[in-house]
This record gives sequence, C-alpha cells and structure tokens, in this order.
Amino acid sequence: MDKLRIRGGVALDGEAHVSGAKNAALPIMCASLLTAEPLRLSNVPQLMDVRTMAKLLRQMGVEASSLAQGHMALHASRISEPTAGYDLVKTMRASVLVLGPLLARCGRARVSLPGGCAIGLRPVDQHVKGLQAMGATIAIEHGYMNASAERLRGARIVMDMVTVTGTENLLMAATLAEGTTLIENAAREPEVLDLARCLVAMGAQIEGAGSDVIRVEGVRSLGGAEHRVMPDRIETGTYLAAAAATRGRIRLHGAAPETLDATLEKLREAGAQIRVDGSTVQLESGGRPSAVSVRTAPYPGFATDMQAQFMALAAIAQGTAVISETIFENRFMHALELQRLGADIAIQGNSAVVRGVERLQGASVMATDLRASAGLVIAGLVADGETIVDRIYHLDRGYEALERKLCGLGARVSRVS
Ligand code: EPZ
Repeated sequence: MDKLRIRGGVALDGEAHVSGAKNAALPIMCASLLTAEPLRLSNVPQLMDVRTMAKLLRQMGVEASSLAQGHMALHASRISEPTAGYDLVKTMRASVLVLGPLLARCGRARVSLPGGCAIGLRPVDQHVKGLQAMGATIAIEHGYMNASAERLRGARIVMDMVTVTGTENLLMAATLAEGTTLIENAAREPEVLDLARCLVAMGAQIEGAGSDVIRVEGVRSLGGAEHRVMPDRIETGTYLAAAAATRGRIRLHGAAPETLDATLEKLREAGAQIRVDGSTVQLESGGRPSAVSVRTAPYPGFATDMQAQFMALAAIAQGTAVISETIFENRFMHALELQRLGADIAIQGNSAVVRGVERLQGASVMATDLRASAGLVIAGLVADGETIVDRIYHLDRGYEALERKLCGLGARVSRVS
C-alpha cells in the first residue's frame, strides 16, 4: 500500500500543466461502444481509472490502446461480450456508463450493480428508469442489471435529481434510439458537454448539452471521430486551493478557466489574486486565507468534488467557515482525518463548522476517497513537520503524476511503499 510522505510548511511556487479530465475521459471512452468505427482520443489522463475502463472495454472485445502523450485509440468493430463484471465494476463506479451504449449498440447488456462506495449509497435508479422509459427491459438479479431492448425508442425523461453519469448514460443511449429523446433536469456539468461534443463529431444529433434540457434525434448508426478531452477542472481547482492554502503562487497551463467559475470566486473571496489569460490560470496568495463558507451544488454551483480541498483551506483560514455538502450523504470523512492534524471541525448533519487555526501539525492520516485524499494532501503541505497519507491509491485514480507536479511546485513530497 503506497503512502505519500509530505514535509509541510513550504509555499507552492511555480508552474504546472493541467491534465485531461478524468470525468470526461471515462464516459467518452464508453462512447466508443456506439460505433464500429475507430475513435481516436487525445489529452487522455494517465490514471488508474482510465486503465480500468480500458481493461473493461477490452473484456467486451473493444481494441483499446493507450498511445504516447495521452493519445488513445478505441475500436469496437464488434462487441463479443456485452458484460461488465463485478470484479471491475466494484473498483470503479463509472463502469455503469457502459450500460446505455451497450443497449443502444447490441440490444443487450449485463452490468454489475456498482454497489456503494465510501461517499454514499450512490444508487443508479435514474439510469435504469430512463432506459426503461426508452423501452429497455431491465431485471436486477444476483447483483447484476440484465438489460435488453429490441431497439431503444426516443422518450421524454424527467430526471428526479441531477445526476452526471445518469445524464451521460441516457444521452449515449439516445443517440441511436428511434426518434426524439428529451432529457429534462439534465446535469449541466462541462463533462456532459464534452461527451456531447464527441458524440456530435461521431454523427449524433444533440441540442442543449450543457443546459438542463437535452434534445437528441436518434440516428441509425454513428461513425468514428477524433476528440481532445477537456482539461480537468477539479485537478485545476485542487492545485489552486493548495497554492492558496500554502500562501504561494502558481500558474496552471492548459486549463479551462470558464469551467470553474464557482471555485475561482471562492478563492478570490478567501483573499487570493487570480488572473486568467486564455488557458492559463494564475493564483497569487494574499497571505493567510480568509474563511469562506461553501455549499456544494450541481454545476454551475460549487462542485462537491472541491469540498474536501476547501475544508483543508478553511482549516487554516482566518475566521470560521461553514461547509455544506448537499450532493452526497457521507462526504465528510476527511474531517476526522483533518482533526488529527489539529483542525477544529464540528460536523452537524450535512454541514461542517470549521474554525480556522494558526498552525496544523503533521501526522499520519488515511485517505478514504479520491477527493478526501486531495484535501489531506493540501493539509499536509501546510502542516508543520511530516504528514504521511496512507492508501493513496485513491489519489492515483484521479490525479496524474501528482508527486511530479507537486515537487515541480517546490513541495517536499515523496511516495513510500
Ligand atoms: C459524478 O458521479 C462524478 N463521477 C463524481 O466524481 C461527482 O462527485 C458526481 O458526479 C457529482 O458531481 C464521474 O463523473 C465518473 P451523480 P455520479 O449521479 O454521476 C444520487 C470523483 O471524485 N443519484 O451526479 O455517480 C447520488 O446518490 C467522482 O471524480 C441517485 O440517487 O454522481 C448522489 O447523491 C466522485 N440515483 C447524487 O444523485 C441515481 O440513479 C449525484 O450523483 C444517480 C444518482
């Protein structure tokens, strides 16, 4: 089990390049199932989840090859086995994104229920309900969704709540359904829009992606395409928060600043100077951050995937912040670990009251999920002395070349096995 050793107290200072977005790359990889033609991707981040998705697709008969410099070639000329087994699905919930494409392409799919994870139950009832509305028969047996459909037909679907992968699954299924599909109360996350852009390049007819009403005219088949994955807005926000927390300065290249307005706004409120110049975002700390309260919400609100990072920032801020998590029911586990570093945090339901302290003290902590571990790394960068973050395989799922990028910014970080 790899660990990260951090000797804190150094202000980040330097430049880094933003990687491609994990949460755009994963659905876009699944889109390869929708066509018998090759799909060529670039700016694909080298992450464990991407490797897991490639492995899952290969098990179905898809040729998936990672090329140099973030290029990936995917070719589902034929699908031999429309199944996603529990062994892979349990390690990566995003595997559920093969369900819609498999139903649309082959008319059948056997996909393991993803099961819960650290941050919550995370059901997939909206995915199932939407596909059933499009004519699929889905039986849940022995932990698997056994789905079939002659040919999916367009439907008007009103989502009960905003769900990112739920929207993406239905969007992909609708591209090959007969007739028109309307997805209302759709997720507006930029990753949904990036997926739609790739699908349109493949010949899909989609309007309204990125808004809460998406209209799809089904077509008989889709072709191949080339697509560059959008920059990762959560990675960008994570490094910016780390620079603000350590009172440093950072320039991030290859970013998409327009996709993280809520985060930039909160960082300015915390006292940081931020300049945007095309795809470069620059942050200059304004000294000790001021406490800022945040309340997570679907895009364009403040991202739940940035909540742990901002709790770490609040831990050493001037003043008291209230951090409210409205998306997941159990996404405060990093609070208990931050308390080990000396943070003053009181959890009340889905809110955490964080009273900023002057200093944190290094300690051994344990990562519980991807973004919680990012919050712990930020706290470790600030804390006096040495912090050991255990179970950093969580980090490897979503942050490409984390140590290299942090060391390039002056952090004293090393991986220990
Ligand atoms: C996506 O997860 C992201 N993952 C998550 O990022 C992100 O935290 C989340 O969206 C919210 O932004 C990917 O895109 C691969 P949801 P997703 O469906 O789609 C409930 C990371 O760190 N819900 O938008 O699984 C659900 O329980 C990950 O990269 C249902 O009740 O999240 C949650 O409370 C973590 N029924 C809320 O909706 C459903 O059928 C939002 O979940 C679907 C969701």
